[in-house]
Amino acid sequence: MPPIKVKDDIYWVGAVDWNVRDFHGYSTKRGSTYNAFLIIDEKITLFDTVKKPFTNDLIHKLIKVLGDPEKIDYIVVNHVEMDHSGALPEIIKRVKPEKVFCSPMGYKGLKEHFNCDDWPLVEVKSGDSISLGKRTVQFLETRMIHWPDSMVSYIPEEKILVSQDAFGQHYATSERFDDEVKYDELMQEAAKYYANIVLPFSPQVEKILKTIEEMKLEIEMILPDHGVIWRSHIKDIVDAYKRWCTYQARDYALVVYATMWHSTEKMAMAIADGIMSEGVSVKVMNASIDHRSDIMTQVLEAKALVFGSSTLNNNMLPQMADVLTYIKGLRPRKKLGAAFGSFGWSGEAVKHMNKYLEEMQAALVHPGYKVKFVPTHDQLKECREIGVSIARAIKEKQNA
Ligand code: FEO
Repeated sequence: MPPIKVKDDIYWVGAVDWNVRDFHGYSTKRGSTYNAFLIIDEKITLFDTVKKPFTNDLIHKLIKVLGDPEKIDYIVVNHVEMDHSGALPEIIKRVKPEKVFCSPMGYKGLKEHFNCDDWPLVEVKSGDSISLGKRTVQFLETRMIHWPDSMVSYIPEEKILVSQDAFGQHYATSERFDDEVKYDELMQEAAKYYANIVLPFSPQVEKILKTIEEMKLEIEMILPDHGVIWRSHIKDIVDAYKRWCTYQARDYALVVYATMWHSTEKMAMAIADGIMSEGVSVKVMNASIDHRSDIMTQVLEAKALVFGSSTLNNNMLPQMADVLTYIKGLRPRKKLGAAFGSFGWSGEAVKHMNKYLEEMQAALVHPGYKVKFVPTHDQLKECREIGVSIARAIKEKQNA
């Protein structure tokens, strides 16, 4: 793919990764992109690089735009994670930049990754700015969004925010702008990205969004390090981040289960029936079939999390343990919760799932329901009643 002009003298010079399907446990069914941006000014500046295997893609694009990549004066490292810095050693060798700007945590992070005492690193903090000539770059540290080193770069003359991981999507496309792709697909990928990458850092996101509002930054384009550039739907994605970082949920329940001989599955379906009977939406997912990161995407806006598992070896089924460990790590908050499952002789699965729900700070709607071997008609009726209670609790629960 050639370099893409973003605005006069501003280019996308990143790489599209059509084939990546696993991003440390996150299923990237639509691939991804590693975005890098080039601004041609008196000081020619490259913002971020790409994952190491895509180094030549970046170099070819720089040659197409500049002729000689050595014309680059400055490199800005907004984020040290290797999907954005993997190409940095080769690029620095080739470009010999005058300065490489990074946050104080980025300074440490780059040294810890690349043993790079000979790089011309310059630390910049929130509030610092540099002149490129006609343009200025203002820096704002965004610690933990997504790593301690993360920062964003704002170019006031262009009303552009180079946002590194924030507002990203794992979304490989030939198009580079939000208004050139299917809106629903884009928002689904943005939600999946938030749920699986950004959610644990929601308090920091809320703070940064407030800071950006207080600074009254005018933003006409957001250039994230993954996916397409936001220029037509900026309000939509910023509003979505405001909802997600404050854990606002919609009136639906997510039922996730793992089953051994279909008894827990029968209970899951009966609970879902009970929820639906009250006119509340429900999504049922099977931990043996659905990928943990797709389940996590549904967790994002669910008001209630209902987990079911058969008991195996005094514990829940391993596929449920995988999903719950993953969900817990991403720190969903302000949920209602309930657990259920069938067992043969001990029945500890419900206790273990309740512990996960407590660690997620969920409010339990039911203390937990377990059934020996195969649920009877009356026990399935009880499951439907539990579903009704969950639905009523959802309708009563207001977003904070
Ligand atoms: Fe896309 Fe946190 O790196």
